[in-house]
Amino acid sequence: MEKRTLTIPYEEYSSIEELPPEDRALLEAAIDATKGSYAPYSHFNVGSAVRLADGSVVKGANQENAAYPSGLCAERTAMFAASAQHPGVPMEALAVVCARDGSLMINPGSPCGACRQVMSQYERLAMKPLRIILGSGGPVLVFTGVESLMPFMFNDL
Ligand code: THU
Repeated sequence: MEKRTLTIPYEEYSSIEELPPEDRALLEAAIDATKGSYAPYSHFNVGSAVRLADGSVVKGANQENAAYPSGLCAERTAMFAASAQHPGVPMEALAVVCARDGSLMINPGSPCGACRQVMSQYERLAMKPLRIILGSGGPVLVFTGVESLMPFMFNDL
């Protein structure tokens, strides 16, 4: 038996202003997307924006439901909309923003496991790493591929 250790690389920016312009624009789109959040139960508003290889940007926001498990996270709302509206166009980057009752949180939110799984599939389809930008009102974390967020991911393609 050998003990092994994983190292997870990511970039930390002090604020949205420090980001490269393309990342900043996508994070701003995700901030705008929080306006579409329907969260009457959690009051937790999540916005997401996906940038595609042809430059289009598709937004999504969390959608809740009285039957709680029927709701969907912002990230999957955005990715599924992007795939449905632009079939076959590779996804290059995804940004996520969190707010509570309409006010941006300070710290970045972290995508749930189901959203990471969906990211992994679109990343594999794109055949290049998906850039993931997590920020809200304060520091911003950038991951240069789903592997960093979900080591040992499942895929069967
Ligand atoms: N939520 C997201 O939209 N994305 C995540 O990555 C985690 C959680 C939503 C689901 C639900 O509407 C609310 O946040 C509280 O869990």
